[in-house]
Formats: sequence, C-alpha cells, structure tokens
Amino acid sequence: AQAPVADIFAGKYSVGQQVTVKGWVRTRRDSKAGLSFIALHDGSCFDPIQVIALNTLNNYVDIQRLTTSCSIIATGVLKESQGQGQSLEIEASDVEVVGWVENPDTYPMAPKRHSLEYLREHAHLRPRTNVIGAVTRVRNCLSQAIHRFFHENGYCWVSTPILTASDTEGAGEMFRVSTLDMMNLPTTEQGQIDYSQDFFGKETFLTVSGQLNGETYATAMSKIYTFGPTFRAENSNTSRHLAEFWMIEPEVAFADLSDIAQLSEDLLKYVFKAVLAERADDMEFFAQRINKEAITRLEKVIDQDFVRMDYTDAIEILQNCGKKFEFPVSWGVDLSSEHERYLAEEHVGAPIIMQNYPKDIKAFYMRINDDNKTVAAMDVLAPGIGEIIGGSQREERLDVFDRRLEEMGLSQEDYSWYRDLRRFGTVPHAGFGLGFERLVAYVTGMQNVRDVIAFPRTPGNANY
Ligand code: 4AD
Ligand code: MG
Repeated sequence: AQAPVADIFAGKYSVGQQVTVKGWVRTRRDSKAGLSFIALHDGSCFDPIQVIALNTLNNYVDIQRLTTSCSIIATGVLKESQGQGQSLEIEASDVEVVGWVENPDTYPMAPKRHSLEYLREHAHLRPRTNVIGAVTRVRNCLSQAIHRFFHENGYCWVSTPILTASDTEGAGEMFRVSTLDMMNLPTTEQGQIDYSQDFFGKETFLTVSGQLNGETYATAMSKIYTFGPTFRAENSNTSRHLAEFWMIEPEVAFADLSDIAQLSEDLLKYVFKAVLAERADDMEFFAQRINKEAITRLEKVIDQDFVRMDYTDAIEILQNCGKKFEFPVSWGVDLSSEHERYLAEEHVGAPIIMQNYPKDIKAFYMRINDDNKTVAAMDVLAPGIGEIIGGSQREERLDVFDRRLEEMGLSQEDYSWYRDLRRFGTVPHAGFGLGFERLVAYVTGMQNVRDVIAFPRTPGNANY
C-alpha cells in the first residue's frame, strides 16, 4: 500500500505489512553495521519516518549518496522501532531515487536552524522546513475548522467579488485595477483620468473586504460568511500587516452586537479545540520552539468566558495603569497595538472583546449608539498580536444612515444598492471580519504574519 507517513503513525497499517512511502530526505546517516538511516518526510505530519536501508540493496552505493531533499520512493516492511522517540520504521527492500540534489553544498535549506528572515528570502523552498511545514498544516486545519463551524451552525458560504468599485472601509487603501494604457491615459475635459474608457467603465479596485456584498446576502439568507483574499495598500511595514491577506466575514440578520460578540467567542473556541485535537504534533513543536505557552494558553482560553470591555473603560484602565506608552491615550483616540497588547497581555492575560468605540474612528456603516458618540463596534484583541477581529452591528435605519453619509461627505448615489437594503425590508444585522493570518499567528505563536502565509505580499515584495 502507498502510505502517507501520517497514516503510518496513526496506526492504519500493521507491523509486518509492506508499505511504500514517497517523499524527501530530511537527513541520512550511516551506521558502522552497514546500514543507512534515512529520515523521510512527505508533509503529512510533523515527524519524518525512519527508513532503514541495508547494504545488501543493489543500489546501496546510490543510497549512500543521498543528501537532504533528494526525493525517493521507499518500499519495505513496517517494524517496531528500536530507536528512541520513534514508534515505527520501515526496513526497505527497495529505495528508488527519483530526484537528486544537484550540488548539496549549494542547497539553501541545509538541515540546520535558519532564521525566519532567511527563510522568507527562500520562500519557494521554505515549505520543506519543519517550521513552515507545521505552520502550513495548522493553517489548513484552522481553515477546515472554520468552514466546519459555519456549516454546522447553518451558515451559507458566499464568495464575494475580488474586483470591485466600492471602498468598504472608506480608508482609501485600495489597489487600483485597470486595463488603460498608462503611457497614454484618456482624460476628461476637466483633465482627470477618464475611467469610463476603462474595462469596467469606472474606477475599479481590489476589494478590502467582502462585507457590503455579504450584507446583501445576509439580508436574504439570514446567516452567511465569506472566506477569501482581501487587499490593502497601506504602507505599514509591521509584523501584523500584509498587502494581501485572507479574511473570514460572517454576517447575521436579526442579530445585534452582543450576538456577534458571542459568535466570535464561539468560533474562536471551536477552532482552538480543533487545532489542539488534530494538530497535537505541530502544536507540541510550537510550544517547544516558538512560544512555550502555545498549547496551555489555548487550553485556558477554551475554558473561560472572554472578557468584554467597553472602549471607554479601556481608556480609563490605560490612563491609570502607570505605564508609559509611545502614543498617549485619551478618549477618542484609536487604540494602537501597544495599547491592545497591554490590555490583552498584561491586564487580562487572554483575548478581550472590546466594544462601543467612538464613532469618529470607525467606518460609516456602524450603528450609532443612543449616546450619539459611540458606535456598536467590537474588536477581539489577542495577547501577542492585538486586534484579530473587527466587527460591528450595522446601521439599519435609513434616516440615520443618510445623516452619517452626509456627515462623512459620502454620496447617496455611490451607496444606492447598499441603501436599498435599508429601504426594502430592513433588519438589524451584524457581522465581523477575522484576519486569518493574525489568527494563525496567535495560535502558533509565530511573531510575524509573513511567516504564516505561503507567499507574503508586503511593500516592496511581490516575489514568487
Ligand atoms: O477591522 P477591519 O478593517 O474590518 C473590516 O474590514 C470589516 N469590513 C470586517 C467586517 O465587519 N465584516 O479588518 C478585519 C480584520 C482585522 O481585525 C485584522 O485581523 C485583519 O482583518 N486585517 C489585516 N490582517 C493582515 N494584514 C492587514 N493589512 C490587515 N488589515 C486588517
Ligand atoms: Mg479594525
């Protein structure tokens, strides 16, 4: 049988059975007894499997030339391992070399510890390392768990467009998409670029969020979510920002702020449980190498209610905590990452749901509270990373919405389809966006979102 290494360690094959494994050499060493020990990995689990090649194999000379990352197909009988820490190994009756490493001295991924910065510069080879392999499996596990959570709870997955003419967040951080000839741009009589001659007949961008489209489906399907790539041309070179990142955006009709605060808590706990159950091997590695609390902090979070805190109370805590912040705190300021991290790491020691922010620092679509100063917004702040979720109850009252548009200098015309949702059978509704890379970073303890996405897009870097 051809076996993924994970299936062998999971006990799907019995000792004495013949199996074939296909993969890459992680390390190889010779013993004096005339044997070669090959650690083979195929990406299916953290541990490589040991393949023992006896010098009686007719291509033993070749086998002794195997170096890290040569690809091989090994067939042999499954045995109880004599070695420490290994449960099973394969005594090979055949080792076929599929691909050589042309010059081992020039192979950039020698089996030693490389810095994460170095690995980023070799993004096409880094999936072969322990750390990126583990991140990749955990990321996959989390996305499967997210889909399962929503499926089990009756949500419909809606794929919202990537090309769009609307700026959901109104922050002006959009990448423009155009087929116009840049050397010969058509202009209007006023001297501006004439986008009516462009592919879509108007100025078009990569989406920053699927939310507005999501609202149109929530106000018909009741409970929906999106899961897709989003793009932001914000020039922030930080460990938590990417120009291309993945976002999960549930949107729920007949729901208010506290309903989606609860939803965020339920979703996070569900996926934390899934990852601890399904990727125990990789999480053990993160606990040993990246953050020693990687496992224990998730276990603790699963067992307790998330703390809910009002923005106004948070400001008071930050002002009275005696800590000196780079950005001073007063009511009305946007929380920066140092504030978010202080609250989550030092004040509470677990994720916090922060609610009811000043309206002036939040987007146009958020529902105004009765105090007329704050909006029904919620962010989830996590230790080590800060904001991982941003969401809100949406303004469903047409008159209030129109006043907000006017206040912010936005035109009703641009939002005519969005206003229609408020004109025809409007309903209280709410939703949030979970930044997927920030979630993976929090779960694994990885410090930089560039190391939890396959090919990070950041200012100055769209390589590979
Ligand atoms: O807080 P944001 O901007 O909220 C929205 O886009 C809403 N439309 C979501 C909604 O209500 N449906 O972004 C949501 C989350 C943030 O909390 C953060 O985790 C992540 O997306 N995020 C980023 N992740 C990586 N790189 C960036 N540049 C990010 N910008 C936001
Ligand atoms: Mg936000």
